[in-house]
Amino acid sequence: MLGGMRPLVVAHRGASEVLAEHTLGAYVAALDAGADGLECDVRLTADGHLVCVHDRHLRRIAQKRGLISTMELAELHQLDVASWKQPWADLDDEVPDLDEGLRGVLTLRKLMEVAADHDRRIELAIETKHPTRYGGLVEKRLVELLRDFGWDEAGAPVRVMSFSHTALQRVGRLAPQVRVVQLFEHAHYWPALRRMIGDDWVVGPGIGELTDHPGLASRLAESPHEVNVWTVNTQAQLDLCREVGVTAVVTDRPAHLRRLVDAGPAAQV
Ligand code: G3P
Ligand code: CA
Repeated sequence: MLGGMRPLVVAHRGASEVLAEHTLGAYVAALDAGADGLECDVRLTADGHLVCVHDRHLRRIAQKRGLISTMELAELHQLDVASWKQPWADLDDEVPDLDEGLRGVLTLRKLMEVAADHDRRIELAIETKHPTRYGGLVEKRLVELLRDFGWDEAGAPVRVMSFSHTALQRVGRLAPQVRVVQLFEHAHYWPALRRMIGDDWVVGPGIGELTDHPGLASRLAESPHEVNVWTVNTQAQLDLCREVGVTAVVTDRPAHLRRLVDAGPAAQV
């Protein structure tokens, strides 16, 4: 869809280039940087809580064995999922000490509270991860949580994203007013997806596919669907998104993209 509006700057897992992804610290930094929105991945714990985590296991973020889906929230709260990003921090006096409260696994409810309490409108882009042992229970719990916040209504500051078409259909059945974003990672999926998705669905290709397949870029520019793109970290990537009329760019570098977007196309050389 060709637009003319400035794209929203949505922080991918928070300010995740510099701070550990999905931590409260990374999200607060993104808000301080002027992000319009916050992206997060969500998974269900064994006791039914939605937590903000990308991987199904703890290896990368906590250097431990274990699956999010088999652990309870209290166990996850004991972990330090922030330190992996700066393993040398103990050796560097200039790295600020991390508040204990900012090290643990973040619940989606907490992130929603932070967004809702902020002094300007903050969009949440919530991605449900599949496959998972809990299947449709993830979207069921998510919609229940959205309802708690009154965010199942039209105009709510939230969009639900997934690579899983089935998951988004489920959201559509449970909460028809909630915006959904069909993510896809291969340009050649588009012709089939185009026929499957709802008229009002947003589409979410990766920037790599958009860059490598000019045909996809022009087809999306001509399509009636809004386009949100991930993960947009450079001027050239933003320029391409502008050509396509992208309405939201998901970025690891919210401060940098905030500056680029605010500078506007005319200021670019
Ligand atoms: O915003 C969508 C993007 O986050 C999808 O990829 O792997 O970073 O969750 P991933
Ligand atoms: Ca994601």
